[in-house]
Amino acid sequence: MLNLSVLTDPGFNPHSLNKYASIMACGNGYMGIRATHEEDYTQQTRGMYLAGLYHRAGRNETNELVNLPDVTGIELQLDGETFTLLTGETLSWQRELAFENGELRRSAIWRSPKGARFRLDSRRFVSLAQLPLMAMQYSITPLDDQAQVSLKTGIDATQTNSGRQHLDEISVRVIGETGLQGIYETQDRASEVVISASCRLSAPAESCFSAKNRRLGCHHALTVQQGETVTLEKIVWVAWRSEKALSQETFAGHCMKQLDGCVQQGYDALLAESARAWQTVWLNSRVTVKADTPYDQMALDYAVWHLTAMTPAHDERCSIAAKGLTGEGYKGHIFWDTEIFLLPFHLFTRPATARNLLRYRWLNLSGAREKARRNGWPGALFPWESAASGQEETPEFAAINIRTGVRQKVASALAEHHIVADIAWAVVAYWQATHDDAFMRHEGLTLLMETATFWMGRAVEVNGRLEIHDVIGPDEYTEHVNNNAYTNYMAWYNVASALTFMRQFGCEESRFSESAARFLTQLWLPKANDEGVLPQDDTFMSKPAIDLTSYRAQAGKQTILLDYSRAEVNEMQILKQADVVMLNYLLPEKFDRRECAANLAFYEPRTIHDSSLSKAIHGIVAARCGDLAMAWRYWRDGTAIDLGDDPHSSDEGIHAAATGAIWSGAIQGFAGVQIVEGELHLSPALPQAWQQLHFPLKWRNASLEITVDSEALTIVTTEPVQVTVWGVTLTLAGQQTFLCKDFHLSVNGTATRKEGDDA
Ligand code: BGC
Repeated sequence: MLNLSVLTDPGFNPHSLNKYASIMACGNGYMGIRATHEEDYTQQTRGMYLAGLYHRAGRNETNELVNLPDVTGIELQLDGETFTLLTGETLSWQRELAFENGELRRSAIWRSPKGARFRLDSRRFVSLAQLPLMAMQYSITPLDDQAQVSLKTGIDATQTNSGRQHLDEISVRVIGETGLQGIYETQDRASEVVISASCRLSAPAESCFSAKNRRLGCHHALTVQQGETVTLEKIVWVAWRSEKALSQETFAGHCMKQLDGCVQQGYDALLAESARAWQTVWLNSRVTVKADTPYDQMALDYAVWHLTAMTPAHDERCSIAAKGLTGEGYKGHIFWDTEIFLLPFHLFTRPATARNLLRYRWLNLSGAREKARRNGWPGALFPWESAASGQEETPEFAAINIRTGVRQKVASALAEHHIVADIAWAVVAYWQATHDDAFMRHEGLTLLMETATFWMGRAVEVNGRLEIHDVIGPDEYTEHVNNNAYTNYMAWYNVASALTFMRQFGCEESRFSESAARFLTQLWLPKANDEGVLPQDDTFMSKPAIDLTSYRAQAGKQTILLDYSRAEVNEMQILKQADVVMLNYLLPEKFDRRECAANLAFYEPRTIHDSSLSKAIHGIVAARCGDLAMAWRYWRDGTAIDLGDDPHSSDEGIHAAATGAIWSGAIQGFAGVQIVEGELHLSPALPQAWQQLHFPLKWRNASLEITVDSEALTIVTTEPVQVTVWGVTLTLAGQQTFLCKDFHLSVNGTATRKEGDDA
C-alpha cells in the first residue's frame, strides 16, 4: 500500500462546480474528462477532450481542443421528481478523487422535497491501462420506501466549446440490448471520432432508446424496493483518427469489439487493471514528504496525478496544453510552459516522455520555419501558441473593451520570441540528463541549429554590437523592448549550445561556426549593477515604480489592468511574472548566489505574480539562495493556484505549468536538484514544516532514490553516478549517506567537505 492522498470536494456548491470539475478531472494523457456531476447544472461546463484533436470553427477563430459529445450525464427521476442537489436536502456527502486508483467517487444521502431519502453513489475512472476507455457506475438506493426510478443517459452531441460546434453527427446507432454508437467528424472532415457505449442496469427494467437533436439516449424505468440498490454500469470507448486507412464501418466495428471486450471484464476488473498502471506511475515518480500537515503530500500527489493525466506519452504528435486535458482555457494551446515548467518532471522521472515532447517540436519544425520566413528571418521561429500542426495559433485579439468595442491585440505571437530559446534549452537539458546521442544526432542538432540560426538573423547590429530589439520577455506586462536580459542570455545560450554540440558530434559547418562565433562575442548581454541586479531591458530601470500592494494581494487576477491601460503598465516597473529571476533559475551556472539574491530582492516587490508561472520560480531561486522562509511561502502559494480557496480561478482548467512547479519546487527547490555545466547537483535544505523528503530520480542510465531529512542525505543508485553534493563532487555507487554536519556552507553558498571525511 502506497497510502496515497485523496482530493476532496468539501460540499456541493453551485459556485465552485467548475473549479472541482477541473481539479478533480480524470485523464490518461490520451483523454481527459472533467469531473462534472452526472446531473445537469446551468453553471456546470462538461468537457471531454482528446490530446491532439483540434479544429477551427470559423474564419475568425483559431484551432481549439474539441469538446466532445458528453457521456457522463445522467438524468435521474425519483418518483417523478428530477434529481438535483439544488432542491431537497443533502444529508451526507462525500466526494473524492482517489489518486491511488484514479477513481472519482461521490456518495450522498439526499432527501427529496417530498421527504423520501435516497442513497446515491457514483464512481468513474479513465483507464490508464486502455487509453480510449472510461467506465462509470451510478447506484440508487431508496432508503424509506420503494421508489419509481427512471434513468436517462447516452451520448450527447449538443456539447460545444462555448457555443462553437466542431463536430458533425455522421451516424448514430443502437447495437444489441445495451450498445450505443455515435460517429462524428470535425467539420473540416480531417478527423473522425467514434464513441461507443454500453449502458447496463443491474435489475430488469423497461428500457428503450432514442435519437433526437444530436442526443443518442438510453432510458430505463423500474421500481426499486426500499433498501435495494440498482446500479447503472456504463462503459465507453472513445476512439478517433485522422488517417482513414480503414473504412468508417470497419473502424466503427473495431471500436465496438474493443468495447465488448471491456464490457466482458466489467467495471471492477477494468478499474483494477487501471489501478495497476497507476501503481507503476506512483512507484516511479511519487514524491513523499513527512510534513506538519497532510496537505503538502496531497499537493505533491495532485501534481504527479495531473502531470500524468495531461501528458500524451503515447503520441509524439501532440504535446501538453496549458490547461492539460481539463478545460478549454487557452483553447487547449501549447506554450513554453511545456518545455520550461513540465519537461523537468518528465526528464527526471520518464525521460522517454521528455523525448516525445521534444519530438513534437521537431515534427512541427516546418511551421516554425515558415513563421520565421514570413517575418523575414532565417531558421525556426516556433509559434507562441501551437496546436496540432505547429502553425501559430495565438488569437489575434484578446479581451474586448465593451465600452469602446475595441479589441486588444495580442502581441505575444509577434514578439514573445524567447520560446525559441526555451525549446533549445530543453533539448540541451534532455541530452545532459540522458546522454541520448541518437536523439541529439537526429532531432536535437537540427532543433539547436535552426533555433540558433533564427537568433543570428534576429539580432541587429548597433554600433558594432549585436542587440535583440522589439521583444516581449516572460514578463508580459513589458512589451516591445530592446535587449530583454532573459531573451538575450537565452539566445546566447541557444547559439553557444548549437556550436558546442555541432563540434561534439563532428557536424561543424564552417559558415555556421563563423556566424555563431561572431554572435557569441558580439551579442550584448546586459550587465548587472554593483549590487548584482541585472536590468530587465534597456529602459526598465528608468521607468517609475509604484506601490503594488493592493494588486499583489490579488495576484493572478490581473486587477492592475482595471486601473491602468496596458500602455501605462508598460511604462512602469511592473512585472506580471518572473523574468530576470526566471533567467537566474534556468542558467544557474551564469549567476552566483549574490546576484540571484540581488535580483530577487529587486524584482520580487515589483512583481504582481499575475501569472501562475511566477511564484514557484521565485520560490526555487529563493531556496537556492538559502532563503527557506521565502521559498516555503512561494511553494505553498504555488500549490494554492489550483488547490486554494478561489472558487473560479481554475474554472477553465487546471494550471498545468503550476502543477509542474509544485514538483519542481520540492525537487529543484528544497532538494536543490540542478543541472550545472551538464552535471547533476544536489544541495538539499528542507523547510521547517518538512521532516523528510523522498523521491526517485533518473539520471542517465541510473535510477536513484533520494531521501533527505534534517540531518542527512541518502542516495541509493542502481549504477555508479557522479553527483555534486552541497558543492562537493563525488562518484557514488550503491547506497551512501551524507551527514549535513560534515558539510559547511561557505559565504557564496558552495560547500566544502571537512578534512578527513570519507562517506
Ligand atoms: C503567461 C505565459 C504563459 C501562458 C499560458 C500567460 O498568462 O504570461 O507565460 O505561457 O499564460 O500558461
